[in-house]
Amino acid sequence: MTASRPSAALSPIPDPKAGPPPTAVPPFAVISGAQVQHILQGRERQIMELIEATYHLHSVGESVNPPSYFLRFPDRPTARIIALPASIGGQARVDGLKWISSFPDNVQAGIPRASAVLILNDHDTGYPFACMESSIISATRTAAMAASAAERLSTGHRIRPSRVGFFGTGLIARYIHTFLTAAGWSFDEIGVHDICADSAAGFHGYLQAADETTKITVHGSPEQLIRSSDLLVFATVASRPHITDPAWFDHNPLVLHVSLRDLAPEILLASTNVVDDVEHCLKADTSPHLAEQLTGNRDFLTGTLHDVTTGRTALPHDRPVVFSPFGLGVLDLALGKHVYDEAARTGQLHVIDDFFHETRRYG
Ligand SMILES: NC(=O)c1ccc[n+]([C@@H]2O[C@H](COP(=O)([O-])OP(=O)(O)OC[C@H]3O[C@@H](n4cnc5c(N)ncnc54)[C@H](O)[C@@H]3O)[C@@H](O)[C@H]2O)c1
Repeated sequence: MTASRPSAALSPIPDPKAGPPPTAVPPFAVISGAQVQHILQGRERQIMELIEATYHLHSVGESVNPPSYFLRFPDRPTARIIALPASIGGQARVDGLKWISSFPDNVQAGIPRASAVLILNDHDTGYPFACMESSIISATRTAAMAASAAERLSTGHRIRPSRVGFFGTGLIARYIHTFLTAAGWSFDEIGVHDICADSAAGFHGYLQAADETTKITVHGSPEQLIRSSDLLVFATVASRPHITDPAWFDHNPLVLHVSLRDLAPEILLASTNVVDDVEHCLKADTSPHLAEQLTGNRDFLTGTLHDVTTGRTALPHDRPVVFSPFGLGVLDLALGKHVYDEAARTGQLHVIDDFFHETRRYG
């Protein structure tokens, strides 16, 4: 039997008087970093729930999240700008793009390394309807993801860590500390290590102001920090592995490998490895990507965070656990849409009148 083509007579006949579908060009709004921060500050728990719900939508296929595109420059080898296009269903129901620069030399000039914008596109018309400052959205979703992973990966047999170590002490480390604290973590000891003494001192000062009772130690050596921490947060800008000795992890810490390229593949091969998304994470010379290249397979991966959260994957407690999150564009999109909705609800949207000007096809 051959499949017959649907008959044209079965299609509804368009009514010439019906006019275009009831869509309009949406107004275009700009949302500043001050507005973003005001909307997100103090809502850490709610944001963690939003990030977990977004992971869930992603894992059940209610998202489109193609690979990030890395723009690099021969004349500025340490710099890059990454495009993260994405689309998310559920309540947010929005498409968009995060466009985020990383210029590490900025730090020496006294300005942050990363800067970003997020564009939101309307689900029905494709029109961009908002542009917002996004370094805060990016840091916030990264910290929410890290704190939520710390919670999920330290349940069950593992004892909740009481000694945390921050390896790399920039903006992301500060946001992760804020989220861990807001999520109810308290520590007996906080360790800090950074190749830049000024950064370590600045972070030490921030920690002292945030938490006057906890013992804070600046470690001169990476080994000291790693051996004295049960929870480790890597947030450096290292482009290739600089931590190579698996023996430093003999005490089986929980490692949030947010900067993705610090650990030699040998350390991952001696650990339980959890990622946020397998295809995304095994790209761009991340440590898991190097481990795949070294072994020729993905057997070293235990599963995704969602696998652990839903009980599909159990974690052994006799090895270090390394969480390597690539960071998905859908997270920025979901959080950005939340910011937009809050700004709209509270009457704070700065709409740019006539941003889209040629809105009639024939004038
Ligand atoms: N996975 C994700 O979703 C995600 C999201 C956002 C940021 N990040 C990553 O987080 C990292 C930190 O971002 P940030 O904005 O805090 O950067 P930052 O530049 O503000 O801080 C990085 C710090 O790391 C220190 N450092 C660099 N190399 C080091 C080394 N070998 N040992 C110890 N310290 C070292 C620097 O001196 C600096 O203080 C970046 O690599 C960024 O790409 C990941």
